[in-house]
Amino acid sequence: MKIVVLAGGTSTERDVSLISGSNIYRALKKKGHDAILVDLYLGYEGDLAINEDIFKANVEWDKDVTAISAEQPDLSHLKELRKDGGKSLFGPNVLALCDMADIVFLGLHGANGEDGRVQATFDLMGIPYTGTDYLSSAIAMDKSLSKQMFRAAGIPTPKGITAKNGQKIDPSTVPYPCMVKTTCGGSSVGTYRVEKPEELQKALDDAYSFGDDVIIEQFVSGREFSVGVVDGKAYPIIEIAPIHGFYDYKNKYQAGSTIETCPADLPKELTQKMQHYAEMVFEALGMRSYARMDFMLDTETLEMYCLEANTLPGMTPTSLLPQEAAALGMSFEDLCEKLIQVSLK
Ligand code: DAL
Ligand code: MG
Repeated sequence: MKIVVLAGGTSTERDVSLISGSNIYRALKKKGHDAILVDLYLGYEGDLAINEDIFKANVEWDKDVTAISAEQPDLSHLKELRKDGGKSLFGPNVLALCDMADIVFLGLHGANGEDGRVQATFDLMGIPYTGTDYLSSAIAMDKSLSKQMFRAAGIPTPKGITAKNGQKIDPSTVPYPCMVKTTCGGSSVGTYRVEKPEELQKALDDAYSFGDDVIIEQFVSGREFSVGVVDGKAYPIIEIAPIHGFYDYKNKYQAGSTIETCPADLPKELTQKMQHYAEMVFEALGMRSYARMDFMLDTETLEMYCLEANTLPGMTPTSLLPQEAAALGMSFEDLCEKLIQVSLK
């Protein structure tokens, strides 16, 4: 098949996406597909790749699986790399290339990639793509809206409030510890754990630097899990146990900083319940193709809570869905093939 792997873009998860995209690209080539790797924002030049950033990510993945820096990427240089000034989200030739492929494999993460805009554009152009549709993408990208949908469908989610930039929040009304999250982030960028009232305002200010809406959410003390759902059916559950702190950007992408166990060591009843909730999220948000849902389990009460849905989950070497597929005996290459298959249905 002729496949465009779309990665990069302009979100705070650009670096993650470059690694996901490179990984997918290599897998599809191994499977004999006629694949090209294209940066959503910078476009495509040349034979293998394209542009310096992706090429670098591609090469580094070969040598060193901890290629992603623990620092947030600085994207200020990107616009200068665009000869046309970079007004459009789509780099030179990107749409034309996508239009010539049998399918576009979305290796994008975060804003302007995972939030439904690209998906809606492709729908209008009649271009097939992997992953769910524009509406479920948009809902899942908004943590506040997602929680409302979870509640309406009877899926437990931690208590929380949505706050707008400029709104006064009395720190004494919030339970501690709590989590402060930008509503539209990914990979824990713009997510903070707050231990006491004096720290709340700083966390809110930091979160507002990513967008005008934040959620202040009850912190669930216990174990963290994630469940992929492919074509409506849950994959094995993975447990995520960071060695220090919570599962933040660094713990997500620095190899060795988090202990991951798949299938998770959970009693059968809890396993089935969590997988059922993950499938319920898939249905409640009207998803198709695949997604991955994140959960917390309160170890005292054994209550479980869905934190969020990820519609283009990471496909990096430390990412969770590929590990869940491996627990089913599926190689990364086979997983990519499967995701194409369910997306073309
Ligand atoms: N947002 C990252 C890529 C994930 O969910 O895996
Ligand atoms: Mg996420």
